[in-house]
Amino acid sequence: MLKCVKIVQYKNFNIASLKLANPVLLAPMAGISNLPYRRIMKEFGAALVFSEMVSANGLIRDGRRTLELVRSCAAEKPLGIQLFGSEPGVLAASVRHLEGAGDLIDLNLGCPVNKVVRSGAGSALLRDPNLVAKLIGALRKATDKPLTVKIRSGWDRRSINYLDIGRIAEDCGADAVTLHPRTRAEGFSGSADWEQIGRLKQALGIPVIGSGDIFNADDALRMLQTTGCDGIMIGRGGYGNPWLIRNILDRLAGQPERPPSATEKLRVAERHLRFMEEDIGAGKTLFEMRKHLCWYSRGMADAAHFRQVVNHATSLEQMRSLMRNFFARNENQDAGHHPAT
Ligand SMILES: Cc1cc2nc3c(=O)[nH]c(=O)nc-3n(C[C@H](O)[C@H](O)[C@H](O)COP(=O)(O)O)c2cc1C
Repeated sequence: MLKCVKIVQYKNFNIASLKLANPVLLAPMAGISNLPYRRIMKEFGAALVFSEMVSANGLIRDGRRTLELVRSCAAEKPLGIQLFGSEPGVLAASVRHLEGAGDLIDLNLGCPVNKVVRSGAGSALLRDPNLVAKLIGALRKATDKPLTVKIRSGWDRRSINYLDIGRIAEDCGADAVTLHPRTRAEGFSGSADWEQIGRLKQALGIPVIGSGDIFNADDALRMLQTTGCDGIMIGRGGYGNPWLIRNILDRLAGQPERPPSATEKLRVAERHLRFMEEDIGAGKTLFEMRKHLCWYSRGMADAAHFRQVVNHATSLEQMRSLMRNFFARNENQDAGHHPAT
């Protein structure tokens, strides 16, 4: 049977002065999209990577932890730095602390987390379009860098207002809008309503980036094709799977996907671990790397047992040895299942 998803002709798109090599972007993800993760996703072809969301308040207080979130390196460029905050003056002041960091500033208007919403930031702002206009206006005045906003559909089903917020963003000088088409109330339940991405694209003159539920290359091509959006964002689908980006780019180029062998997975997981060790040191890496190894090992033979033992590793040396054994066993098994002809 013919695959129903055809090759999508995409045009390279720019966000103001920022030229992007392709339409595949890495989503901002708190607790996930730190420098080591971004470097891996960049190596697989992401045209633009985003930091975890960074508190504007924290930045102006020069909090050490906040500044860690914007640590970068040349290899990952271009980098978008995502800010959250609810006061125009604070947001404007915070970008002045980012003079040398990041190539683009993004404003978070979608975070559903209680702590953020209680502070009046993230998705809480969707209920206050006037304040949204002030925040974007203040950021626009404070920086010459490309400026984007990331939104959800609305606060809840009764107050869906992504088209209004998108228009306000454009009018106030934003250079692109990313839409994750779920309401704040929906959290991550159900499925993202991609039709909203198509409607936003129709409504705006600036680029629209779609976010939500891209778990394989077919999903990516379908989002590009059915919504007409300019770019797509990879979030949860990239967990332990940077090959998703390569697959999408291959498919966009009319090439077949190249599924990774267990040996390639090991190479990338080891590299990820090394980047992390360089960035945050051995102690934190031992803890942080666990979740990534759970994701890298997903769907492989004996993965449940591997996850159990790797979660109890007491040194990076032991973690590396467990990784090597696990992926080598899988490689041998794969070779056994598919004898060379
Ligand atoms: C663990 C996690 C952390 C996230 N953190 C952020 C964030 O800091 N800023 C933001 O705008 N969106 C954040 N998001 C939302 C994602 O950027 C993305 O819009 C959403 O996950 C939908 O895309 P997906 O289905 O591809 O994951 C986060 C999502 C997850 C799962």
